[in-house]
Amino acid sequence: KFETVGYSLLPVVNKLQEITSLIGSEIKLPQIVVIGSQSSGKSSVLENLVGRDFLPRGSGLVTRRPLVLQLIRIEDNAEWGEFAHTGDVRFNFAGIRDEIEAETNRVAGANKEISSDPIILKIFSPYVIPLTLVDLPGITRIPIGNQPTNIEERIRDMVLDYISNPNSIILAISAANQDIVTSDALKLAKEVDPEGRRTIGVLTKLDLMDRGTDAMDILLGHTVPLKLGFVGIINRSQHDIQTKKAISTMLKDEERWFQNHPVYSRIANQTGSIFLAQKCNKILTKHIRESMPGVKNQIRALINKYREELENYGEPTPERASDKSRLLIDIMNKFALQFRADLEGVNDDQLT
Ligand code: GDP
Ligand code: NA
Ligand code: MG
Repeated sequence: KFETVGYSLLPVVNKLQEITSLIGSEIKLPQIVVIGSQSSGKSSVLENLVGRDFLPRGSGLVTRRPLVLQLIRIEDNAEWGEFAHTGDVRFNFAGIRDEIEAETNRVAGANKEISSDPIILKIFSPYVIPLTLVDLPGITRIPIGNQPTNIEERIRDMVLDYISNPNSIILAISAANQDIVTSDALKLAKEVDPEGRRTIGVLTKLDLMDRGTDAMDILLGHTVPLKLGFVGIINRSQHDIQTKKAISTMLKDEERWFQNHPVYSRIANQTGSIFLAQKCNKILTKHIRESMPGVKNQIRALINKYREELENYGEPTPERASDKSRLLIDIMNKFALQFRADLEGVNDDQLT
């Protein structure tokens, strides 16, 4: 299995789920939201992070409704998707793509219209962590088809609605063959996250730049400074999509492309989709680490509660309360021993 977003966090998130289900709370991981101009590669980047082929992609405004993608970890070996609008019908990945297209047309019409009504898709898989990712329509200026004259404003509002949530990690996508200084993604991200605490710059289409030009200044943060930096990406081209190039093949080709590039080879270890997934994982780890004290306090409070219960009952010790108390002390120990090791060594400097 190649490393997708969350993959390295699987063990720690498993333990957390076990513990938080016992204490009756849960840790909410941030959601990852992709934003950017039309056809900048948002859906492609999201797919690479999940490591599965299931989103409609292509030139023009393909994504016309927000897609809220909830990853759900299961023990089962099977993988499938379920939509909120189709109940418990199970879709395979090809079926998911068709259903997104059909459902987009059903609500937003077949003629380029957009809708802010989200499509909610749950992906069940043993290889994911409980994480929400959001794919959004691209920012566009000139109305086409049945689009309203205020299309730009409507998409902007929709995007702002998702990224103003402080629990959103923003992947601000810009295409390398367009002017970065006027990037819609970076402009919008700056409105809600002026200090750049939760915005990662993503530069796609490096393979499509004019010959003799490169994006080194952008990738090094010299053109637009961004706290969490920029990651260069090569997604599959339209031709790759038509010839059904596998994600795993693309990830290998992408890695090789950067390593062999005369200019980018020196920063090759900080580029590509796998590196982007790792960067997201570091932010998620930081978030989990910051949630730890809260979980610990909840466990402590519960232990105290059961101790008091025990004392009030007096002798003989009731079975249930003593079992609970022992269970919690057991959890507490697990917590102290295992968690610290798993989350050790991730600090803020490593994020940049
Ligand atoms: P979105 O509209 O922002 O969601 O962009 P898509 O992911 O749908 O991609 C738009 C088109 O650009 C598709 O045909 C992709 O194959 C193509 N594309 C996206 N990223 C790259 C890239 O890095 N290199 C190349 N050559 N094509 C890309
Ligand atoms: Na597109
Ligand atoms: Mg899209």
